[in-house]
Amino acid sequence: MAEFKTVPADAPAAQKLLNWVDNRFPASKLYKEHLSEYYAPKNFNFWYFFGSLALLVLVIQIVTGIFLVMHYKPDAALAFASVEYIMRDVPWGWLVRYMHSTGASAFFVVVYLHMFRGLIYGSYRQPRELVWIFGCAIFLCLMAEAFMGYLLPWGQMSYWGAQVIINLFSAIPFIGPDLSILIRGDYVVGDATLNRFFSFHVIAVPLVLLGLVVAHIIALHEVGSNNPDGVEIKANKDANGKPLDGIPFHPYYSVHDILGVSGFLLIFTAIVFFAPEFGGYFLEFNNFIPADPLKTPAHIAPVWYFTPFYSMLRATTDPMINVLCAIVGVSVVLSLLKGGFSAKGKLLLIVGALVGVALLKVFEAKFWGVVVMGGAVVILFFLPWLDRSPVKSIRYRPDWHKYLYGIFVIFFFILGYLGIQPPSPTGELVSQIGTLVYFGFFLLMPWWTRLGTFKPVPDRVVFHAH
Ligand code: HEM
Repeated sequence: MAEFKTVPADAPAAQKLLNWVDNRFPASKLYKEHLSEYYAPKNFNFWYFFGSLALLVLVIQIVTGIFLVMHYKPDAALAFASVEYIMRDVPWGWLVRYMHSTGASAFFVVVYLHMFRGLIYGSYRQPRELVWIFGCAIFLCLMAEAFMGYLLPWGQMSYWGAQVIINLFSAIPFIGPDLSILIRGDYVVGDATLNRFFSFHVIAVPLVLLGLVVAHIIALHEVGSNNPDGVEIKANKDANGKPLDGIPFHPYYSVHDILGVSGFLLIFTAIVFFAPEFGGYFLEFNNFIPADPLKTPAHIAPVWYFTPFYSMLRATTDPMINVLCAIVGVSVVLSLLKGGFSAKGKLLLIVGALVGVALLKVFEAKFWGVVVMGGAVVILFFLPWLDRSPVKSIRYRPDWHKYLYGIFVIFFFILGYLGIQPPSPTGELVSQIGTLVYFGFFLLMPWWTRLGTFKPVPDRVVFHAH
């Protein structure tokens, strides 16, 4: 047990109270470690706003969610009408609901930008692997949270979107059909599905999400923040052991982040008040029609933030499987030609490739589509070990690496766009190319990230006072 600290008898009451608390709970210690004496690099830029903004959106979602639950009815016969009731009759209900629905999209905008920052500055590299891994787990949870939340208004898109996605699970060999019944709680999407999705959306996933966010920040504060130069500020400390390029998070970044929050709130409130449906991208028009199990909408599309992954699912057709088999074959031949394998190694490589191709052909393309869609997220977990570049930040990489990142982003947008569109032969071909670019970017990283002429990384961060 830590020693009891005392304060002078004539100390102010507030100081006495804090001392009383500190002797029982590390309030001042936590405040110092995570705010007033958490040294963050002084060269943070625009991209570093999105962590605090993600926290802000998390709070918005939780608070508005609490108020929505006060009036929402998780019952297939009442859900749609209860949402309309919130919109029309509950005082300020429309605002709470629009903040929550816009918040869902804002969450993904903010988190995608936050992840992109990690990508360009190599923030996932040693020693921040766990920060990144917790982040990827957060991303998975967010996707589950958004998917289950979307069923709750019980509109046509809620119903049919859930139907399409849950049916995908039945493509998994052996366990698939039972698994999809377990998720639905019934043979079709119905009241049982709505109840379990409500329970997961309102309590189970948010609890996990909150736990992961805490773990994410603890892990970050253990190792310290990265920065746009990818220089470790802990490597240069002053006589007191404070990083020379670090500034205390509070007050410097707490105040700095107010700028990001203000910019964000300007855009967020403009959308909430003037365009909450956002042209059907944030709230789809079909979702203003009550769920009808007997009437399938002409075109079912997920909300925008899922569409890049949805495109990859749709891209995985039989011809695409043939292309994948060909890629496996060519990679094996190239590896063998390159040499360096023992006889046993060669045999293993050939047998492995044959098994891979056999599996690709044995199971149906729909199943591989699910694998590709899931794999597109799972692969992110491995980024810290895929990137072998000698420098962290994009600033000191060869220029052509930047173009590669550019191509990756453009294809990610194209995949997102195509996922919203109805299927078409051209769209299918382009999304197949996009899927190959996406996976190629990550899987070939151990090779391409080492190529080219790297610029010298400075010892200290580059900072020009404004
Ligand atoms: C609810 C969602 C999330 C919240 C609230 C959150 C919060 C934060 C905060 C407050 C920071 C420190 C400030 C900053 O560097 O911007 C941070 C850093 C970081 N986050 Fe997140 N995050 C979330 C999701 C994610 C996701 C999905 C990823 C990646 C898959 C991720 C990866 C990182 C990384 C790598 C850093 C360290 C960045 C650096 O030091 O350069 N985060 N996060």
